[in-house]
Amino acid sequence: PVTVFDTPKDGSIHVAQRIANIIKEKQNSKEKAVLGLATGATPIKVYEELVRMHKEEGLSFSNVVTFNLDEYYPMAAEDAQSYVSFMNEHLFNHIDIPKEQINIPDGTLKLEDIPAFCLEYEKKIGDLGGLDIQILGIGRTGHIGFNEPGSAPNSGTRLVTLDDLTRRDAARDFGGKSFVPTKAITMGIGTIFKAREIILMAWNGKKASIIKKAVEGEISSEVPATFLQLSDNVEFILDKDAAKQLT
Ligand code: F6R
Repeated sequence: PVTVFDTPKDGSIHVAQRIANIIKEKQNSKEKAVLGLATGATPIKVYEELVRMHKEEGLSFSNVVTFNLDEYYPMAAEDAQSYVSFMNEHLFNHIDIPKEQINIPDGTLKLEDIPAFCLEYEKKIGDLGGLDIQILGIGRTGHIGFNEPGSAPNSGTRLVTLDDLTRRDAARDFGGKSFVPTKAITMGIGTIFKAREIILMAWNGKKASIIKKAVEGEISSEVPATFLQLSDNVEFILDKDAAKQLT
């Protein structure tokens, strides 16, 4: 299903409420809430609202375990461009989640250690009973996580090569495309698919054409987000501008 909100803020508050409801339900049953998180511009207001709920409404994250979708490779955690820094700045530094319950792909690994790390990442998610919810943005290549065109629907967590368009879109953050890493470690499409609930968010007109392809286009690895059409647990949450090309 597709739900269109007037503004990114309205859509973000809706998503934050859904996440908060999962956290509270799990608190009541003394279980962990397992959240799959994304970085980038799209989820920033969701995190803002979750931080607000923590500060003003006492929403606790003590029972929350998080798995981020991806991290650049190579990437030092302390680097301003790392997804570790992004998550700390926008969410983790402002809530009461125990550090050891935060999982982000490790951009500092030696190449030969990556496959074992990726298998362990999948296993950790599985051992916790799987992701309760995965939130996603979408890249202009149609990537979800960093699953670029050509990614297989059953792909797992792995090292990938970033598309040139993805690196161009990241150039501003890095002060030039040449500074954007060429690779990343990302959860696979198969990993994302196992989540009990998947929410893909997109805001603003720049995403309108890729959203049209993702929601209405032919299912193909050329636009990895089209695979989401095959899942019954997916919801597209859009603002008016991102939805404007949908029929
Ligand atoms: C981020 C991620 C990416 C972004 C996508 C959109 O963890 O996995 O797929 O969601 O590139 O980025 P923004 O939100 O910056 O437009």
